Order: sequence, then C-alpha cells, then structure tokens
Amino acid sequence: MVFSKKFALTAVLVMTMAAGAIAQSDPIVARKAMMKSNGAAIGTLAKMAKGEAPFDAAAAKQALESLHGAAGFADLFPVGSDQGDTKAKDTIWSDNAGFKAALAKFIAAADAQAANPPKDVDGVKAALAAIGPTCQGCHQTYRKPQS
Ligand code: HEC
Repeated sequence: MVFSKKFALTAVLVMTMAAGAIAQSDPIVARKAMMKSNGAAIGTLAKMAKGEAPFDAAAAKQALESLHGAAGFADLFPVGSDQGDTKAKDTIWSDNAGFKAALAKFIAAADAQAANPPKDVDGVKAALAAIGPTCQGCHQTYRKPQS
C-alpha cells in the first residue's frame, strides 16, 4: 500500500514540524525539554553506577555527549518567560552573568567527561561526581524548589 505509507510519512512529518514550531515559539517548553533530556542522561548513568543496569560503554558515552545539547539553554530565557508553567527563578534575569557562568561550568564538565568516557563502573561514578554538582549548583541558585 504505497499510498497509505506515503500518507503516514506525511503525517509524521507534519507532526514533527508542528512540534518544532511549538518548541521555537515557546521557550519554556524548549528549555524544559533540554532539562528532561539531561535528567534522562543522568538517569542512564546513575543506573549503571548503582548496578541497576550493566555497564555499557557506548550508552555511557552517548549519555555524556547528549548533555552538550543543553549548550544553548541560556538563550531560552527571554524577558517575560518567568511567567507560566516554569520553575525559573528571578535570579536568572537579575544575575544573568552568573547564570551563564553556571551553564558554562556544566557544559565544560560534561564535555570533559564525554571526551574521556568511562571505561568501567568506577568511571561512570567519577563522571557523575564531576557533573552532578554543576547541575545542583545551578538549580540551587536559579531554579525554584520543586513543589
Ligand atoms: C545553568 C543552570 C542549570 C544547569 C547547569 C542545569 N539545570 Fe536543570 N534546570 C535549570 C532551570 C532554570 C530549570 C527550570 C526550567 C523551567 O522550569 O523553565 C531546570 C529544570 C530541570 C529539570 C525539570 C525539567 C521539567 O520538565 O520541568 C530537570 C529534570 C533538570 N533540570 C535536570 C538537570 C540535570 C540532570 C542537570 C545536569 C546534568 C541540569 N539540570 C543542569 C537550570 C539548570
């Protein structure tokens, strides 16, 4: 059924484009998606570190590399986007240089680990120890507590 296959493909394309448009027009949605991806990557690594998943060098490397996807995070905080379904704290705008520095610190830590990916479970633990505090450091100052 060539026709229905084509139709299905078109539908997927249209949906993908719509999702892209929403992400572009809604910085809150886009920045949360970046953070969700960070959370998923750290989750993958944490499972290996805790022995809940077997060590997988390729998966660990991929998770570490994916963190770089948040490099443009600071660009997704236009004035006014403190309103809405967001945990962004006012400090992002009142101390924007500090916020950008916290992001740079995190990206640098993630890139360093991705460039020298873990070879065993201890390596995964070390990568988490190097990156985790840069997540928390930013959250403590620039994100409202999770209710
Ligand atoms: C430079 C600051 C910064 C860094 C670094 C950072 N975050 Fe975030 N994170 C935020 C802010 C701000 C929010 C709130 C975004 C919003 O609600 O608009 C957030 C939200 C989140 C969320 C909730 C997303 C949602 O769906 O509401 C998760 C999960 C998260 N971060 C995980 C992480 C992890 C894991 C790392 C490190 C690997 C990390 N973050 C690093 C600033 C940061």
